[in-house]
Amino acid sequence: MAKILVLHGPNLNLLGTRETEHYGHTSLNDINTLLQAQATAAGHSLTCQQSQSESTLIDTLHQAKTDNTDFLIFNPAAFTHTSVALRDAMLAIAIPFIEVHLSNPYQREPFRQHSYFSDIAKGVISGLGVQSYQLALTAAMQQIATHANQTTSS
Ligand code: DQA
Repeated sequence: MAKILVLHGPNLNLLGTRETEHYGHTSLNDINTLLQAQATAAGHSLTCQQSQSESTLIDTLHQAKTDNTDFLIFNPAAFTHTSVALRDAMLAIAIPFIEVHLSNPYQREPFRQHSYFSDIAKGVISGLGVQSYQLALTAAMQQIATHANQTTSS
C-alpha cells in the first residue's frame, strides 16, 4: 500500500462555483471523494489537502517527507506561475509528483503559460477538468507499481 497526497492550492476550495467555464461544476469535495474511492479500490491510502497559503503548503510538503509519502498529485493553482518557494520545497523533499490543472493554461493568458513545476514534475496533465486528476492518479499508481517491481527485482 502506497501513501498518496493530493495537494490543492489557493481558491480551489471554490470549485463548483468559481469560473465554471474554466473549472467546471464539480466541487473540491466531490473530486476528493472520487480520488479516494479510486485509490482505495487499488489498495492505496490517499489524503487530500487544500490551502490558500504558500507557507501552509510548504509545511504540508515538509510533513509529507516526514510521513514517508510515496507520491504527490499537486495542483499549485496560481502559485504554479509565481512560487519559487514551493518549487524549492518540491526539490527539497524529492517526492515524485504529477502537476495537475483543470483548465489548459496554454489556452489562457500568457502569464499562465509558465510553470515553476513542470520541468521537475514526473508529468503534467491539464485541460481535462476532473479527469486531469483522475488520469494523474491512474498514472501515479502505475508509477508506484513500476517502482515497486524495480525495487523487488534488483
Ligand atoms: C489552475 C490554473 C491556474 O492558472 C489557476 O491560477 C488556478 C487553477 C487549474 O487547475 O486550471 O487557480 O491551476
